[in-house]
Amino acid sequence: MGCPISTLASKPAVDTSEEIALVNLTDSQKEIIKESWSSIQRDITRAGIILFVRLFESHPECKEVFFEFREVDDVEMLRVNKELRAHGLRVMSFIEKSVARLDEPERLEKLAFDLGRKHYNYRAIPKYFMYVMPEFIRAIQPILKGDLTPELEDAWKALFLYLTGMMRQGYLEEERRKTHARGPPSIPSSSVRSHHAI
Ligand code: HEM
Repeated sequence: MGCPISTLASKPAVDTSEEIALVNLTDSQKEIIKESWSSIQRDITRAGIILFVRLFESHPECKEVFFEFREVDDVEMLRVNKELRAHGLRVMSFIEKSVARLDEPERLEKLAFDLGRKHYNYRAIPKYFMYVMPEFIRAIQPILKGDLTPELEDAWKALFLYLTGMMRQGYLEEERRKTHARGPPSIPSSSVRSHHAI
């Protein structure tokens, strides 16, 4: 893969520097993620709804981003809201695609980077991406029950750190592009993206 971090020892490595969040998942972490996904997948709609309802409960400011939800304060109303259901499922479908690309780092990187770019246009800021991982873990707990071991939880957290880190880079790139649209050309995306570490 040509990336120094991917040649590191088998422990996951995280670089939490401002620009880049590199995560190196071990082969066994990738395997347990894939295995657990088949169980999560069966309950994907419920998990998606739980994830977003909890996100709005713990971080109500996220509601502002969803124009449709702006006036909705009652959490029960949110639970049945069609738009919410749709977005919860979109997030889970993205996770599904990511799991399917765990062994294709370049494709996975592009997927997450491009999604981050889109979120700039949705006005969903990177700080909010970070709120999703703990809610995802809470949403899969009742599905996996005892199968959600500390090792599996760590593996999912590492994958989320990678994905949201890459989304953040895409967001920042889109922000630069838009900000410089009337000024000097933006920094080429290759110079801000990581080196496919996963
Ligand atoms: C790990 C975090 C997240 C993932 C994986 C994710 C995934 C997605 C996906 C796959 C889409 C559809 C993109 C398309 O149009 O092709 C989407 C749209 C959107 N996302 Fe996210 N998202 C995340 C976090 C958030 C957060 C935290 C917010 C707001 C606080 C947000 C707000 C939106 C909005 C407003 C849209 C457009 C409307 C819609 O599709 O419902 N996203 N997201």
